[in-house]
Amino acid sequence: MSTYNTVPPKKITTHVLQEMKLKQEKISMLTAYDFSFARILDNAGVDVILVGDSASNVMSGYNTTLPITLDMMIYHASAVMRAVKRALVVVDMPFGSYQGNSLEAIQSAIRIMKESGGNALKMEGGSEILESVSRILSAGIPVMGHLGLTPQSIHKFGTYVVRATQEDEASKLVEDAHALARVGCFALVLEKIPAKLAARVAREVKIPVIGIGAGAEVDGQVLVLHDMLGINQKFSPRFLRRYHNLQEEVTGSVKAYINDVKSMDFPNEREQY
Ligand code: KIV
Repeated sequence: MSTYNTVPPKKITTHVLQEMKLKQEKISMLTAYDFSFARILDNAGVDVILVGDSASNVMSGYNTTLPITLDMMIYHASAVMRAVKRALVVVDMPFGSYQGNSLEAIQSAIRIMKESGGNALKMEGGSEILESVSRILSAGIPVMGHLGLTPQSIHKFGTYVVRATQEDEASKLVEDAHALARVGCFALVLEKIPAKLAARVAREVKIPVIGIGAGAEVDGQVLVLHDMLGINQKFSPRFLRRYHNLQEEVTGSVKAYINDVKSMDFPNEREQY
């Protein structure tokens, strides 16, 4: 069986992602929130590691991404940064750290960059946050935009169904994508929108477009690590491909351990001093 090594030998930067778009080489992106998984992802050759505010759900057990704080995001991002040598590390700006005004946004952005050492930030929204995005960009901090089903707005949407299926929302999304690219965002995430719309955005804007539930005709894909590893079996949207059933595997290992302890099979003679 022939294997295709997609791991280029250099550190991934925003410029490398731009080159990948031009060469039509797809960008792989996954979330990580801790040192150990970040090291595995980086060694495996993933291009971009997102310290997503999905940590609110998968690491802290909240129902939405809203409760996670700036301090918590900095904690997760710092752990990831200690592990990563090659991937570009993008850190989500959490809900409430940038929506107020552009001064609050730049102060939050600077805290994340200084205290975690992350390489770039991701922010949800379009025209509403453009001033804050511009101010952060003008401080020399790379920003990735995020449009479509933006989980920080779940209370406005009221549901996690596909976004931008209607003309007005679709045309606002296209305008927002152009605006974010125009002010200087280095990439965009499009979440849970029709594949045709995502393909149109990826064709029209010059920056890389990374999809999650946005079809194949974009410049790359992102998934939440815990979902693709099957740690959370309750979450199974159509767009999710599960590569593992870690929940079952870990449960099996833990049960075997409990059994070994109770039956006094563990530790054996070789496992003691
Ligand atoms: O927080 C996150 O994990 C994300 C991805 C779903 C893109 O924003």
